[in-house]
Amino acid sequence: MLFTVVGPGRAGLSFAGALVASGWQCVATLGRHDDLRLAAADCDVVLITVPDDQIAAVAAAITPGRAVVVHASGAKGLDVLAPHARRASVHPLMSLPDPETGAGKLRRGGVFAVAGDPVAERIVTALGGRPVAVDDGRRPLYHATAAVAANHLVALCAQVERLAARAGVPLDAYWDLMETTLENVRRSGPIPSLTGPAARGDSSTISLHLEALPTDERTLYLVLANEAARLAGRPPYREQTRTVSTEALAVTPTTPTLVPTIAELRARLDAERRAGRSIGFVPTMGYLHDGHGSLMRAAAAANDVVVASIFVNPLQFAPTEDLAGYPRDLERDIGVAGTNGVHLLFTPDVTEMYPRPMITTVSVAELSARWDGASRPTHFDGVSTVVTKLFNIVGPCRAYFGEKDYQQLAIITRMTADLAIPVEVIGCPIVREPDGLAMSSRNVYLDPAQRAAAVVLRRALDAGTAAILDGERDPERVSDVMTSVVAAEPLATLDYAAAVDPHTLEVPATLGSHTRLLIAARVGTTRLIDNCGVDTGSVRPLGTPA
Ligand code: PAJ
Repeated sequence: MLFTVVGPGRAGLSFAGALVASGWQCVATLGRHDDLRLAAADCDVVLITVPDDQIAAVAAAITPGRAVVVHASGAKGLDVLAPHARRASVHPLMSLPDPETGAGKLRRGGVFAVAGDPVAERIVTALGGRPVAVDDGRRPLYHATAAVAANHLVALCAQVERLAARAGVPLDAYWDLMETTLENVRRSGPIPSLTGPAARGDSSTISLHLEALPTDERTLYLVLANEAARLAGRPPYREQTRTVSTEALAVTPTTPTLVPTIAELRARLDAERRAGRSIGFVPTMGYLHDGHGSLMRAAAAANDVVVASIFVNPLQFAPTEDLAGYPRDLERDIGVAGTNGVHLLFTPDVTEMYPRPMITTVSVAELSARWDGASRPTHFDGVSTVVTKLFNIVGPCRAYFGEKDYQQLAIITRMTADLAIPVEVIGCPIVREPDGLAMSSRNVYLDPAQRAAAVVLRRALDAGTAAILDGERDPERVSDVMTSVVAAEPLATLDYAAAVDPHTLEVPATLGSHTRLLIAARVGTTRLIDNCGVDTGSVRPLGTPA
């Protein structure tokens, strides 16, 4: 067979070399600037190997003759060879790095996508390859698949290489893992080959990974982690509130400066930011205890300047609630704030915060409606509105909230993300009294008998935790376990006890590896809330079977 190549680049010269070695005869190799008119006159095949966007122009420049005109593009259909009635396409599913290696690879029996005139199959058979028919309609998809199989895998390998270097682990170790994984996929298919945290639904390990990764590596990691989760039939990873430990944080005591006005606080914090100093912010309603103190210590440990606010926010109290009687003690609060490293104490009065009646409300739907929101329908709108205003006053900062008010933390995290508020919300663990009661400003309302009875919330959470760790996966049964503990305490009246998804706060059909137990009860007239996380997923090293 006689052939002419148009496009003497890597692909063209590889084909020419391979076909000649297979006994075909090369009439000419032409560049696209040569006179192409007679290219199809005196041979059987004209093979066009120019870049995809030049194929149509090259084909148009060739006067139809006896040769079949063939292109070697993976993405283009046959229509680009328009003037030629006898047309075909041959695309080798392999890379052709240079003419010599390329010619060798073309003759090694690989797969070629073919379409059009039967001469395409003859070319492939002459080379000893395997022709696979891919018609025009499926070409772009076929080609996209090739890009994923080759280039995207290269991009992934490059990430492995960068991260291995950063981790100080020899790349070889990961090569073994990658090769075994590819073999597993070839042998058993993708799903049985999945391992790792995404496949197990271990979102806390994914959070850990994301924290450790440089920012510009996170997107690729997250996209693929979620794809692995989808394959494993698990829900996608959701960015969690970042939490920090508040144990054993030492701070240098301060003498807090009282700042009663918005204007003064703004001016001071703007100056700090201009000087390059970071701001940590702790919003409170005062009557400070060590739960608040732990947030202040966390803020002091990670920021140059710590500002705390003390504002008993009327918007978050219903008319029947304890706004007027809410405990206050500014002198003592100044002491607690100073011990815990607060520099600025923002203490606005109600007219400073709300000089006119507020007719603007920030409302975080769904998350605010359930649990505490069901018992206190206007409460969370009041919280999200005042926190938005406080965030706007304080400006870009890290803001520290306690997991004690778990639903509040979930709402603020979501609100900050939804509204792109330039604040990083950080959650801190619950601080408890020695007997397990979560610290709260409202604990002062309890008389001694009620104070003793209040520990029942913690006991109920412990019983719910034990049930889950014993293997209970029905959220209703876990709720029943907690309910019966509270029922045995005559001074307590249960509001709700639930086992929920830690992100959506919804009760799932079956409990997964991460659960939040939520509880609220009245002891006397005082409403108390508490919660805890229960994790049953274990962390396995990378590459070990799930
Ligand atoms: P307040 O009840 O004063 O709580 C202020 C912050 O302290 C909240 O983030 C709360 O979760 C945290 N906190 C309270 N008790 C805690 C404990 N035992 N352990 C750890 N953290 C604890 O929450 C509010 O005020 C308001 O709703 C507010 C956000 C300030 C908006 O008005």
